[in-house]
Amino acid sequence: MQTLSFTLNGKKVSIQASSEIPLLWALRDILHMTGTKYGCGAALCGACTVHLDGGAVRSCSTPLSVVAGKKITTIEGLSPDGTHPLQLAWIEENVAQCGYCQAGQIMQAASLLKQKPHPTDDEINTAMSGNLCRCGTYPRVRKAIHLAASGKYSSTTKRGAKGEKN
Ligand code: FES
Ligand code: FES
Repeated sequence: MQTLSFTLNGKKVSIQASSEIPLLWALRDILHMTGTKYGCGAALCGACTVHLDGGAVRSCSTPLSVVAGKKITTIEGLSPDGTHPLQLAWIEENVAQCGYCQAGQIMQAASLLKQKPHPTDDEINTAMSGNLCRCGTYPRVRKAIHLAASGKYSSTTKRGAKGEKN
């Protein structure tokens, strides 16, 4: 066990933990941030996706040793009040079914939009291909990403105040 510090959703946190445990364990069991989900535990499903210094990573397969001193953003920190364009588009398109994969889908999509603000269908399919949804919400995920990218919500959102610049 050692003291490990990093920035979580804009706030400095320090925890006592082994540096070998996955970030997902620390988020859910130590820091009680349960928006990020455990699916496969092997970097195969994307349910656990968070941002590490702004890029999407699988928190189930990212050891705390990698995270020390860096910035982590989870679904709870994507926007201060749930008004990130992707979150609003997700609601408008009724994307979620059971919901289990959806935090990971949104975090992966947010990373995509930072790199490509207006992605094509092919770019969305490629970027989202590692995020599995057993409910088959893929068409609505793609539609919502296009809607978020359209700029429809850009004047009404409070982005990044809690976590990172979006
Ligand atoms: S739980 Fe991390 S990729 Fe599946
Ligand atoms: S909404 Fe059920 S697994 Fe994706």
